[in-house]
Amino acid sequence: MRFKMVLSMTKDGLWLGYKLDSQGNKTDERFEISTDLLRRHGGIFGSTGSGKTVLGKVILEEAAMQGIPVLAFDPQGDIASLMLPGDPKVLESKGVPSSRLKQYLDKVIVRVYTPASSKGLSVSINPLSLPDEKADPDDMIRLLDNSARTLVKVLLKVAGLTSTWESKSFAAVYELIRVKWQNKVKIKGLGELADMLVADKESVGVDLEPFMKVSERQKLAAALRSLTVGSSQLLFREEGQLDFDELTKPVNGKTPINVLFLKTLRSEEEKHFFISIVLNQLYSWMLKQGYTERPKLVIYQDEAAPFIPAGMRAPGPKEIYLLLFRQARKYGIECVISTQSPKDIDYKAFEQFNTIATGRISSEQSLKVLERILEPIAGERESESIIKALPGQEVASFIFSSADMAPKVSQMAVRWLLTNHVTLTEQDVQKHMAAMVKEQQRLLEELEKARSAEERRKEAERKAREEEKAREEERKRQEKERARVLDEKRAKLKSVKETDKIFATRGKLGAVSYDDIMNAFIARIEAVARTTFGLPFLKELVKAKNFEYERAMSTYLKETKTAISQGLAKKVVAPNEKTGKPTEYLSYEFDYILQEVVKSAGILEPEYVDGGRLKKRFEEIVEKATISHLLDRVILGKPFLQF
Ligand SMILES: Nc1ncnc2c1ncn2[C@@H]1O[C@H](COP(=O)(O)OP(=O)(O)O)[C@@H](O)[C@H]1O
Ligand SMILES: [Mg+2]
Repeated sequence: MRFKMVLSMTKDGLWLGYKLDSQGNKTDERFEISTDLLRRHGGIFGSTGSGKTVLGKVILEEAAMQGIPVLAFDPQGDIASLMLPGDPKVLESKGVPSSRLKQYLDKVIVRVYTPASSKGLSVSINPLSLPDEKADPDDMIRLLDNSARTLVKVLLKVAGLTSTWESKSFAAVYELIRVKWQNKVKIKGLGELADMLVADKESVGVDLEPFMKVSERQKLAAALRSLTVGSSQLLFREEGQLDFDELTKPVNGKTPINVLFLKTLRSEEEKHFFISIVLNQLYSWMLKQGYTERPKLVIYQDEAAPFIPAGMRAPGPKEIYLLLFRQARKYGIECVISTQSPKDIDYKAFEQFNTIATGRISSEQSLKVLERILEPIAGERESESIIKALPGQEVASFIFSSADMAPKVSQMAVRWLLTNHVTLTEQDVQKHMAAMVKEQQRLLEELEKARSAEERRKEAERKAREEEKAREEERKRQEKERARVLDEKRAKLKSVKETDKIFATRGKLGAVSYDDIMNAFIARIEAVARTTFGLPFLKELVKAKNFEYERAMSTYLKETKTAISQGLAKKVVAPNEKTGKPTEYLSYEFDYILQEVVKSAGILEPEYVDGGRLKKRFEEIVEKATISHLLDRVILGKPFLQF
């Protein structure tokens, strides 16, 4: 007998129980399914207490032992007990070798997440994270629609908004996330969504006014923000967000069973919301994984009817579940659901199911629905006889039908669970997960510390930038102001007469006029006018409008010295005309000479002296001057101008 059992164990088989003989008696032959069998999804049916959850959990224990990670939604609190190892003696007495338990403990790690509570592992979700462009456009519209709708539903509930708000809130939120998705802008969280709802249309890139007035959007934004504080904050914070890469990654070589404990969510709306967001995120992750032959993840939904209801009702999870059932197999994601009333589940779901396990069921209606589900899988005659047998099924005995199995139909008794099958409360979860929770909290705190340090650093950087900008602006403002004052004063100075003493000086002269400056200027020219160059030189310069370079300095050594010492000329370096070598030249520059004059006169505000005006005046004087006239004046030390 033992020999036979070993033979029937395939390498990647999931051992679900023992086969029953035609009389319904338990045999010693193990009933196993291949890990691939659930690729086209599995449904478990049976009335309350028939052993559905136990069968579901056996599948999860086995899948995880085969290295396939698990994500299970736990509406009733009896999936979380997968973390409680059973008693080896009891297991042996129930026909399960205790070595199997050891194997489970060696290979599997169970993590129980408690949304909106810190009792178990905390988990938060971003209802606004959507798949990237890989998704089919039609599916995408469905997902966007679904996200907006579920979000609004939970908002109405949590923030106590009336249902008249529903359609317009939905329209505004949908439009906003659609546009953002289209522009590939990720919305980080509900706070950001709230900000976007009330921002002006230019900055947010979409006009929401036609959907909802700004005053209403403000109210909606406030409702959204209320989700980011208090107890719901736990669910929506940015740290510790659900990450399917992490959820599916082995921990120290152990395969994770992730249980999402739904009892910590208080309302049905919140549960629907949570499940649909998790599945949305799963869908995004799945699309990124690409096609695979190997099973990658098993999803288990216990008591699925409220989430995938028959008929017109469409709570958040329904749409995304139906989408997953249609598409997930390509990506190696296997879905298993259980329900006590198949008639309450949308029939479209079952079109995607290839494997069905039915336990005791007596409701006429459910049996009718089951017959329809079973026919395409097991065949007409087989399904008829299955239906006949169902009311009399024993607890934890199932008729297992699969189009992909040979034979298609088997009777089996579910093996005893490796773990204790008990219902846990939030407190139980806390007790049993304490060590893991502590470690997670430490990690989250570390993350939070790093995040806030980063935030502080960024904030400091931003402040520094802002301050620098303010300083720069102040500098510019002051410059502008100076220029304005200067212009104003210059404009005023334009109308002054040549003889007006308007320039205050440092020296005993007091104030000087343009004429005074001109005289001082001409006095300087004396050196040039009296010596070698004479008046013709000055005339030449005036005609040329600038003072050309003297050839080589050494040629006119005496004059050069005089000119430089008088501040009439300065040395410049320029390439030699012939050789191109840098050579020192004398340069007569009006502006330079003027500067020197103004300097020696000690004028307090030299910037107001209009050089152009002086230049023009000088040109006129030189034009009119005769050599003797000019020289006489200069030699006699008599000024040209009377003042
Ligand atoms: N460790 C175990 N392994 C297998 N079956 C168990 C175990 N503990 C309890 N059971 C049986 O499973 C039954 C409950 O089945 P359950 O799966 O919770 O029902 P439901 O169909 O309502 O989900 C119990 O009546 C009990 O006989
Ligand atoms: Mg159950």
